[in-house]
Parts: sequence; C-alpha cells; structure tokens
Amino acid sequence: MKNNYDTIARYYDFLSRTIFQRSIINAQVYLLSHIKPNTTVLIVGGGTGWILEKFQPSGLEITYVEISESMLTLSKKRVQYNNVQFVHQSIEEFTSSRQYDIILTPFLFDNFSATNAAVIFEKLHTCLKTGGDWLFADFVDDPKQLWQQIMLKTMYIFFKVFARIEAGKLNDMDGLFSRYQYQKIDERFYYGRFICAAVYRKEL
Ligand SMILES: C[S@@+](CC[C@H](N)C(=O)[O-])C[C@H]1O[C@@H](n2cnc3c(N)ncnc32)[C@H](O)[C@@H]1O
Repeated sequence: MKNNYDTIARYYDFLSRTIFQRSIINAQVYLLSHIKPNTTVLIVGGGTGWILEKFQPSGLEITYVEISESMLTLSKKRVQYNNVQFVHQSIEEFTSSRQYDIILTPFLFDNFSATNAAVIFEKLHTCLKTGGDWLFADFVDDPKQLWQQIMLKTMYIFFKVFARIEAGKLNDMDGLFSRYQYQKIDERFYYGRFICAAVYRKEL
C-alpha cells in the first residue's frame, strides 16, 4: 500500500518535534484560529490526532479521514472536545453527502504525485461550501534555499523507505488554488520560511 504511515505512526510526532521543534504545531494552531464555533470541519491526514486536543469545545462537527489504521487508533485516544467522526479510508475512497464549512489538510499534499494531487484537490473542492475556508499547511519549495532542498530530499528518501509515499517532490499547490479561483486571505511562514500555513477562501 502506498502512503502507509502505519510502521512509523508511534514515532511520528517524536521525529517531527525533534526536527522541526514546535513549527509544525504552531503552523496548524494558527490555522485553527480561523475556525468559527458550530461549524463543520473535514480534516484529512490528521496523523496521530494531536490536533484534536488543540480545538476548543465549540460545537464543531469534525470528520477525520485517515488512511493509516495506526494513526487512527492513536487519534481516537486523544481528548476530544467536539463531535468527531473517524473515517478509516483514503481520501481517494472517501465519499461525502455533505459540504463542509472548513477543510484542513495539514502536510497531506506532499504525499501525492502531481496527477493524484490534482484529482484529490478537485474532490476536496467539491466537499467545501462556497465561501468556506481551506486551511492548508505544507513545506515550501524554494530552489534558492540549499538547506531546504537538502532537507526535502532527505525527507522524501526517508518517507519513501518507511511509508512508501508516492511523491518525490512537492506539488504546485498555489497553482491549484489559483486554477480553482481561491482567494488567499491569510498566510504565515515558520521554520525559516520552510513551512507555510495558508487560508484559502472558496469564492465560486
Ligand atoms: C506527513 S503526515 C502529517 C500528519 C499530521 N497532519 C501532522 O502534521 O502531524 C501525513 C498524514 O496523511 C495521511 N495520509 C496519507 N495519504 C493519505 C490519503 N490518501 N488519505 C488520507 N490520509 C492520508 C497519513 O497516514 C499521515 O497520517
């Protein structure tokens, strides 16, 4: 199976925090500040579920889609202040009869080939209400930053070996958001601008 984080699920947060300290957490906590109470939220690729403990008890209806069974098992043990529906499925297989106010994809799209990223983007686009916000976090591909290029290459080798991820490089996500005419309403950078957290609004 591709993109299989089962074998590294137990060590994932330790690794991520050792390398990036609190940058990955801070980027996503900043995104959460854009979520209003009593709304519906679709989280895809939430990992170990640490993020669920960062939400305030605010009447949210959260759908949590994770392909990794081990990640999902860890997520279910987290304290949840809101109504969370856990879905053990790939986002490719997931179907929804509802549209969401918010979609959160934290470090998800760096897993996919360009072709698959475009297909998944289109699917999530249809799952988001017009006027809704897509909260996006991922790494930045800046060819002028040699240290970032070395880190990216190293991470891709590591995740190819241990999680069999299908991607070998980052996708042009800004290009996809522009193609679907999203408006970027807020953006912040972390870890020497290697990590980006952005809020995109669905206009059409
Ligand atoms: C790089 S990890 C990020 C985890 C978490 N968001 C974080 O920042 O700590 C990517 C996560 O996406 C999940 N994932 C990868 N491909 C997926 C897919 N096709 N559908 C749903 N989840 C997927 C993995 O199982 C993993 O938990």
